[in-house]
Amino acid sequence: MNTTQRVQIRKAARSRAFESSPWSEAVDLIRDQPGSIYFGNGAPAIEAQPVERLREAAVRAWADAAGNLEYGELEGYTPLREMIVKRMILRGIECPVDEVMVTHGSQQGIDLVSKLMIDPGDPIIVEGPTYIGAMQTFDAYEAHYVTAPMDSDGINVDALDAMLDETGLEPKLIYTVPTFQNPTGYSLAANRRERLLDLCGRRGILVLEDDPYGEIYFEQQPPPALRATDPAVIYLGTFSKTIAPSLRVGWLTAPPPLMELLKMAREGADINGNRIAMRTVFHAASGFLDGHVEEIRSVYRARRDTMIEGLNEFMPPNVSWCLPGGGFFVWAQLPDRMSANALLRRAVVNGVGFLPGSWFYPAPAARCNEFRLSYSSLPLAEIEVGTRRLGQATHEFIEMQS
Ligand SMILES: Cc1ncc(COP(=O)(O)O)c(C=O)c1O
Repeated sequence: MNTTQRVQIRKAARSRAFESSPWSEAVDLIRDQPGSIYFGNGAPAIEAQPVERLREAAVRAWADAAGNLEYGELEGYTPLREMIVKRMILRGIECPVDEVMVTHGSQQGIDLVSKLMIDPGDPIIVEGPTYIGAMQTFDAYEAHYVTAPMDSDGINVDALDAMLDETGLEPKLIYTVPTFQNPTGYSLAANRRERLLDLCGRRGILVLEDDPYGEIYFEQQPPPALRATDPAVIYLGTFSKTIAPSLRVGWLTAPPPLMELLKMAREGADINGNRIAMRTVFHAASGFLDGHVEEIRSVYRARRDTMIEGLNEFMPPNVSWCLPGGGFFVWAQLPDRMSANALLRRAVVNGVGFLPGSWFYPAPAARCNEFRLSYSSLPLAEIEVGTRRLGQATHEFIEMQS
């Protein structure tokens, strides 16, 4: 038996989770169309990455590398953790430095918490729709999904409560992106935040709050993070959206007994963070990040505005969307029962791509008329041309259906 055969026959059941990548599926569709504009990429703007500042910071990080190239700092570089403690005050969070661990991005935080909490078949709550990357992790731990219904004010807490009563399910964990969510751009309304925490407290559900977009608001500051009200919440933050994703520097906060377990789980995953990258981020962010975040807010606000103007101008009147108050995404709806997957096949011919909404649900979604448009990574001119192409494709598509 050769290696491929052995892997095929003997691989773990959980490896099913790795058989296909939703990201590459979308990219494959538009690859054959040169000059396409792709609204599927939710990456930060290249123009918003402070390359020069990072170059200088890296020089400083390497200057004290001697002695810092050993294993170490399981919970991360302490001056950076202290800086994170101060940064979280902007999201209303007061958290002792002992409760902060620097991670390889918030994605690693999702993985470590899953490792600690999820046995195969355990019910966990996710928003419907939710972040694909989180599902990739939860799938690997063989979670059983309970999908919380959402509207433009975030999770409908009363409906979730009723659903848990009806089904008798006792989820261990809820994963939520309550502020400028990926994929919808929606934020959980302030009064629902309290009710969600109350529901989780009553039912003994651990809250995992992922907050990569909370600082990227356009008009009004969003409500404080869930962690601001409840220190039992596990909070994930990241420098991926405010500095650069490839550095892989983010963090999690957790109360002391959990933190001890998470540190050990981390040791089994990657031993420690990248000590030079942590120092680079520290030097780059010191005395710089507040002003930089101000600047990138206006970059993303202009991109959002151009996308919304393009949709207003070019889309048929029976397609809808909400104005996101921050973050990277617009969530749009075709008329009921029309398929966004089918629209995508039509749109790629017109030279524009996006991500169909069905990919953001754990089970095949009943509401397959939704789709995600991301404005974060594209210059204004491309957003304009892309929305025009998308509008034309959508007009043609809807006409063909009726
Ligand atoms: C909701 C959400 N969580 C986590 C991540 C991954 O972030 P990081 O680069 O910090 O791992 C993303 C990236 O798009 C995201 O949208």
